[in-house]
Amino acid sequence: MAAAAQTPLSSEFRWSSGALYDGFVGRWSRLVAAEFVPWLGVHTGATWVDVGCGTGELTGAILRTAAPARVISLDPSEGYLDHARASITDPRAEFRHGTDQDVRSLGLAADAVVSGLVLNFVPDAVGALRAAAEVTATRGLIGAYVWDYADQMTLLRHFWDAAVEEDPAARNKDEGVRFPLCAAGALTSAFEGAGLSAVVERPIDVTDRFANFEEYWTPFLSGEAPAPGYLATLPPDRQTKVKKLVMARIPVAADGSITLTCRAWAARGRLAPEAAAQPA
Ligand SMILES: C[S@@+](CC[C@H](N)C(=O)[O-])C[C@H]1O[C@@H](n2cnc3c(N)ncnc32)[C@H](O)[C@@H]1O
Repeated sequence: MAAAAQTPLSSEFRWSSGALYDGFVGRWSRLVAAEFVPWLGVHTGATWVDVGCGTGELTGAILRTAAPARVISLDPSEGYLDHARASITDPRAEFRHGTDQDVRSLGLAADAVVSGLVLNFVPDAVGALRAAAEVTATRGLIGAYVWDYADQMTLLRHFWDAAVEEDPAARNKDEGVRFPLCAAGALTSAFEGAGLSAVVERPIDVTDRFANFEEYWTPFLSGEAPAPGYLATLPPDRQTKVKKLVMARIPVAADGSITLTCRAWAARGRLAPEAAAQPA
């Protein structure tokens, strides 16, 4: 699969309220980040860059588990940055406005440049990885994770399967269709396409529980991020139809709770010495 073939328009999606995002996907990204950061094996005292930090889930995991010297975290959403700054006051963390391409202006030789749930939203994933490589030290590490949207990202899979049943035209909005980068092997192709070496990829499965269907469903009514954004375009009667179709397919326990396991694909790679940036 050619990862560079994707042409998503991140401006098409709403990334504005950190609180809404945290209650929707943020809580799941936090679980993935907790496994992802130790897996990278970055030494303590390192300088990290978190590209597309959003509300700071991955930055928080770095601070909690990797004993960094410094984490510089970029995102184009002021709303998410405000949320991150309010919830993470650790002096080692610095939140800045910027896109995947703006990392170049950091003028760093970082030990690790990472990104959680972002590469499928940038215009060119390989280009984003190349920009990351420009601010990575010799033999520094680049790592990223994305959801397995088409298959085991069950939180959203149930939604999109119901939405497509309600209206087959929704298929071209389905993140599992739109984001071919989010499948086994695709991150490896993108990393290698960006000239990274020693690329390793793995799935990360995380499980969480909703007390009832309404706890699962309420975040879909926010308009925040792609799936709620799609739902918000439907009139109320069609939203209700999608909701009923999701209820019919999602596994509900006898006590009304819903336990889901969601899969992310994670990759890490090293900057080959000959491609490394010189320290600023
Ligand atoms: C699904 S959220 C992930 C946020 C966070 N990394 C996490 O794991 O929870 C996607 C993020 O990508 C950001 N984003 C969108 N386009 C971007 C770009 N071109 N460069 C960097 N970040 C971008 C959005 O603002 C949003 O915060």
